[in-house]
Amino acid sequence: MKVELRYFTGTGNSVKVLNTCKEVFDRNNHETTISEIDINHTNLGNSEIIGFCFPVYAFGIPRICRKYLKSIPKFNHRQKVFVLITAGDSNEAGFSISECEKILKKKNCEIIYSGVIQMPINWTTSSVPPFPPSRDEASVVINNGVEQAKLMTYDIINGIRKQHIFNYPKRYSKFRFYTDYWLFKNMGLQNLWRTFRVYDTCNGCHLCSKICPTNSIGIKNKRPVWTSSCEQCMRCVNFCPNESIYQTMGGDTKGKNRYYEPTFKPKVNANRAHHVV
Ligand SMILES: Cc1cc2nc3c(=O)[nH]c(=O)nc-3n(C[C@H](O)[C@H](O)[C@H](O)COP(=O)(O)O)c2cc1C
Ligand code: SF4
Ligand code: SF4
Repeated sequence: MKVELRYFTGTGNSVKVLNTCKEVFDRNNHETTISEIDINHTNLGNSEIIGFCFPVYAFGIPRICRKYLKSIPKFNHRQKVFVLITAGDSNEAGFSISECEKILKKKNCEIIYSGVIQMPINWTTSSVPPFPPSRDEASVVINNGVEQAKLMTYDIINGIRKQHIFNYPKRYSKFRFYTDYWLFKNMGLQNLWRTFRVYDTCNGCHLCSKICPTNSIGIKNKRPVWTSSCEQCMRCVNFCPNESIYQTMGGDTKGKNRYYEPTFKPKVNANRAHHVV
């Protein structure tokens, strides 16, 4: 069968999961394509199954993923879809799956499978722990996540249907959970770009600007300047060679681990070097 896979990723976890799915589909003689979500080219629906994988941000999906799913034209046939979410804690995926399902159902999609896969946490600027793990700790979590992704793909190939069951995060009261979700979704995630700063260690190398997936970093006086399309994906923070990036309002990053999935190589857009705002 034909399978199309689409992902959004900041630090490589979600693409690692979907590449693992691709390997299993391919090994079982299915024709599989994989690419990043693209708002302008939601050319989907020529395959029996479409699979999505996104990270969870503050109990919901990233804004860009919500916008992308909403931009998919309604299918004129019943389209089989599966949804996988990568989370720093599998109990803290919140409404991420249900948000996707709600949008996709309106597009004439049949959700044949949904699941949450725990991968290392990448939110280095979070004001509260847990913070990103060390390399060794991360590799254990990644290996478990990859194994889980393989099992889920075999389920899908074998026609086994499973739906993720919503659960409240154990560490939060219901009040705190709903408040955090609402505040981040409606106020936080679109405004946090304002709080990015650099320590004196920034040498103006522009790497952060060249690898940002949403082209949200300009350069002014040789220093990065963040703009409102930022998704808080943490790629710039975790890849900065000098560990120079932090956020105000509790987002200090000195002494914290940096995390990205070790096989993930973000695309470097060299022509952004002179992008000045
Ligand atoms: C802004 C932000 C918010 C996050 N919120 C959550 C969360 O609510 N629950 C959770 O389990 N993980 C959370 N995480 C962790 C990521 O979902 C997790 O590390 C994910 O696998 C990252 O995927 P990626 O490498 O594909 O970007 C958050 C990460 C970021 C950057
Ligand atoms: S990658 Fe780091 S050192 Fe380079 S410009 Fe960006 S913040 Fe500065
Ligand atoms: S500016 Fe940094 S955190 Fe924001 S989208 Fe770009 S790489 Fe991600």
